[in-house]
Amino acid sequence: MGPFEMFSDWYKQAEDAGVVEPFAFVLSTVSTHGEPHSRVVLLRRTEDKMFYFFTNYSSLKGMDVAQNPHVAMNFHWRAPEHRQIRIQGTVAKARADISDDYFSSRPRGSQIGAWSSPQSQMLTDKNDLLSRISLFDEKFSGKDVPRPEFWGGYGITPTYFEFWQEGENRLHTRIAFSKDGEKWVQKLLAP
Ligand SMILES: Cc1cc2nc3c(=O)[nH]c(=O)nc-3n(C[C@H](O)[C@H](O)[C@H](O)COP(=O)(O)O)c2cc1C
Repeated sequence: MGPFEMFSDWYKQAEDAGVVEPFAFVLSTVSTHGEPHSRVVLLRRTEDKMFYFFTNYSSLKGMDVAQNPHVAMNFHWRAPEHRQIRIQGTVAKARADISDDYFSSRPRGSQIGAWSSPQSQMLTDKNDLLSRISLFDEKFSGKDVPRPEFWGGYGITPTYFEFWQEGENRLHTRIAFSKDGEKWVQKLLAP
């Protein structure tokens, strides 16, 4: 089994076992100064061996990846087994049609929210945000909300996977896949 099949297999098992939001993962980016930044985002689409999440392109993570496309993803699930999946890869903005599709599937409140929130920028106070929301609510009143140019998807192309599963007496299993040209090479790592 290759890493994408193994990812789908474990994901499906976590979903079937009732894991809450198995699609939530920790995304790590690195600033131009080499400082790591981590935050949770949601995996919203998996296609053509790419993992997609959606966000504000002007956010801190957007700034980081504009300078350094190397990212890391981390999934942690407690059922049906205690598991962790670590993925490293490079990120690029999603095609506009992918971002449009996802944006148009979102509830209107979230669409207005995307326009209203200068994600990761400083707000004067909560009213600052609330007044922006009223402004855009009015601006798009009676109309479909278009996707802002500064908001959309990112697709991550993995270059490394590691599948960790808890074992007895800390004898966990760690299966790593790294890329050698077009081929995935599998290795067993010590826990
Ligand atoms: C469960 C959960 C899911 C989240 N999903 C997203 C998401 O899909 N996209 C997003 O931009 N932020 C999401 N966030 C908020 C991010 O964690 C983060 O606060 C925000 O993106 C700003 O990060 P940044 O300043 O590092 O760019 C989520 C937070 C949590 C706790």
